[in-house]
Amino acid sequence: MSTQSYRSIAINGSARKGGNTARLLERVLEGLQKEGFHTELIELGGSLLRGCTACRSCYKNKNKRCIIETDDLNAILAKMIEADAIIIGSPTYFADVTSETKALIDRAGYVARANDNLFTRKVGAAVVMMRRAGAIHAFDTINHFFLIGGMYVAGSTYWNLGIGREMGEVEKDTEGFATMDALSANIAHIVKCLKQNGTSG
Ligand SMILES: Cc1cc2nc3c(=O)[nH]c(=O)nc-3n(C[C@H](O)[C@H](O)[C@H](O)COP(=O)(O)O)c2cc1C
Repeated sequence: MSTQSYRSIAINGSARKGGNTARLLERVLEGLQKEGFHTELIELGGSLLRGCTACRSCYKNKNKRCIIETDDLNAILAKMIEADAIIIGSPTYFADVTSETKALIDRAGYVARANDNLFTRKVGAAVVMMRRAGAIHAFDTINHFFLIGGMYVAGSTYWNLGIGREMGEVEKDTEGFATMDALSANIAHIVKCLKQNGTSG
């Protein structure tokens, strides 16, 4: 076991805490724990992150914070800045991410860009749930956030998707869970290589 400490944070943009997206993210984090990572799952459901107001205060203040202090964005952002790997999960809502996931992307992304790209050379992974269709579009939305910020996107043996509608239905999706296990291994591999080289974000 390595003495190196690795950190990963998973953010669940579902309105439903403990639902299918949470279960997929937990599976990824379980794999990372076995690889020696400190892990944390944050569930946005109920915290109602509001969207970006385009005030551009983050560009003026350059203090790694959003000017809006009435919700959890700054606390989550601080944990993203500390992490080696950031995993963002969302159920598919109308063929895209949930509005809370988009609020996270817009506000964390704008603050990151205003502060010299805070997430550069971190590892990113998107995890998406769907009942039937539209998950690839949601998957792309999350990957756009990683790729504009100079992050390394981890893949798996399939796109990182799960299938199911009712709470817990994803448990039947054995291929989805196998995809999460391979994703964990790939995230761990990239983070460890970057740390060994001293080039992680
Ligand atoms: C408002 C809303 C819109 C949805 N839109 C889609 C959709 O476009 N495509 C799809 O396959 N499933 C759609 N679903 C189903 C969810 O993606 C599915 O139930 C998922 O398992 C929910 O994940 P959760 O348990 O983490 O909340 C939608 C659900 C809701 C509530």
